[in-house]
Amino acid sequence: MSRLIQIIYISRSSFITTTNSTEIEPNVARILAKSRVNNRKNGLVGVLYFGSGCFFQCLEGEETEVDKLYSKLQQDSRHKDLKLISRKLINTLTFTNWAMKFVPLETKLNAELQAHGYSSFDPYKFDAVMTEKVLNLLQTSTNVDSQNIIQQSLDKASVEKPKNHLALLAIIILILLLAIFIFYLSHGRV
Ligand SMILES: Cc1cc2nc3c(=O)[nH]c(=O)nc-3n(C[C@H](O)[C@H](O)[C@H](O)COP(=O)(O)O)c2cc1C
Repeated sequence: MSRLIQIIYISRSSFITTTNSTEIEPNVARILAKSRVNNRKNGLVGVLYFGSGCFFQCLEGEETEVDKLYSKLQQDSRHKDLKLISRKLINTLTFTNWAMKFVPLETKLNAELQAHGYSSFDPYKFDAVMTEKVLNLLQTSTNVDSQNIIQQSLDKASVEKPKNHLALLAIIILILLLAIFIFYLSHGRV
């Protein structure tokens, strides 16, 4: 059995956020659903926070598993600018109950940020003290445990996709009709 470690990294999402602050962004819901299945399998635990287009994730588990996941994370095109801000050996896991705890936009966190002079959630600007404070808050905050909320977000996204496809199809048909019309016009048949 390899040693237990904890890492914290931050990153910026590559996708454009489409939801308001009370809903879980469908891309994040997809990440969470996958993480919870995988992490349970690999003995990993942790917490994920997503705010102002930035991810803040803490991962704990056996060193080999955490490192394997971090390599995968570096290849994941849904986020960029990954920055490992902490990596340390631990004796016990902190997030024992959560394969991946998810904390939604938190009023407590916003208040803490403002108290320390930060106008928004920008973890790239945090110093070590602020990072520790955020981690403590995420440890004590309420987890969005309900698979329902994640599932609803995923369902909503899959209903919206066909709508986009229909709009694209309508535009293609319109362009085709216009092209046929111009063709006939230029050959003097209309
Ligand atoms: C911000 C972010 C956090 C993620 N967290 C995890 C995680 O905790 N566990 C995990 O297995 N995958 C996580 N992923 C997804 C991985 O990058 C990768 O897509 C996934 O592990 C691939 O799983 P598979 O090999 O079973 O297909 C995360 C992705 C992003 C963008």
